[in-house]
Amino acid sequence: EDYALGGFPDFMRKEIAEQGEAVRRALRGRLDDRFATAHLGGLNMDARELRSISKVVFLGCGSAYYAGQLGAQLIEELARIPATAEPASEFRYRNPVVDPDALYVAISQSGETLDTLAAVQELQRKGGRVIGAVNAVGSAIARQCGAGVFLHAGPEISVASTKALTNMTVSFTMLGLLLGRVRDLSAADGHRIVDGLRALPGAIDQVLTDEDAISEIAHRYAKARSMFFIGRVRAWPVAREGAQKLKEVSYVHAEAYQASELKHGPLALIDQEMPSVVIVPDDELLAKNLSTIEQIKARGGPVIAVTNADLPADAADEVIRVPRVAPELDPMLLTIPLQLLAYHTAIALGRDVDKPRNLAKSVTVE
Ligand code: AGP
Repeated sequence: EDYALGGFPDFMRKEIAEQGEAVRRALRGRLDDRFATAHLGGLNMDARELRSISKVVFLGCGSAYYAGQLGAQLIEELARIPATAEPASEFRYRNPVVDPDALYVAISQSGETLDTLAAVQELQRKGGRVIGAVNAVGSAIARQCGAGVFLHAGPEISVASTKALTNMTVSFTMLGLLLGRVRDLSAADGHRIVDGLRALPGAIDQVLTDEDAISEIAHRYAKARSMFFIGRVRAWPVAREGAQKLKEVSYVHAEAYQASELKHGPLALIDQEMPSVVIVPDDELLAKNLSTIEQIKARGGPVIAVTNADLPADAADEVIRVPRVAPELDPMLLTIPLQLLAYHTAIALGRDVDKPRNLAKSVTVE
């Protein structure tokens, strides 16, 4: 185990650090500079078949489901195909209408999650076209799907998923690029995404250089009884993942909320004891996000802003900055500080980060 850790204190920390390399591996041989598209040979679909897809539905559990939410946004943005995500664990219990023209994507790091496998089987029984987005080659879900995109994140040991999740989103960006370029995504936008993906590993490494500052923030807020994670649209799955990671490894209660929903109830919980992590991408919703921060501050709530916008240092109690590569890729970079925040909160509280209580790396039971 010491050898496998390669000098890191635990696997979660190691796997966070490996993300740049993991993304490079996922991109290798798959980006096409000439036609500004991606090659995903494992899909086994020609252009005509790709064009026939009427809708994309992502299915996964836990963090894989949140990655699916990001995937659905990417597909809608890049390919303008309706796309949704839902928890694989619920799918077979609600007698879903299976659309033969849809593309279903089963997402799983381990490839062994029973609920996701059962969703695939239910889909296939009803004539659904399903591909895998799986990390573990040769796993049950990869075999059951027979086609798909391997994540190439390398082995992930820590129960908390980090690099696999990043590679899920990278894979869905390539899927969006491919589907977009056989429809009406312009070559210019295609090139912008290809360049953004290429710049991603370096940008991830840049975020990681901020670790000490993020660790200090984590230690400052580690005694909080609960935390909000606030985001909207692109940043909404990021907020959900941030809350999930914090709960999972530190056992601090956390809840993700869309900024727009705060005033419909949860704002009542804001006080000096309830910090909010607000995800602020530099996009068309920037002004609205800043006004959310004002609303929280006006009620005495501490705010940790995670942003790639040019916010003044006093815009929030803490400001964590990440670089930008392309707006569509913002969520990936905005997620990295939340992994570090969860990790260092867990360390501050003396938790066993790699093996959180009550959890298993792959959930092979119902
Ligand atoms: C992530 O940090 C969690 N451990 C968990 O939500 C996980 O993503 C989920 O159980 C799905 O696992 P899978 O990707 O191996 O199918």
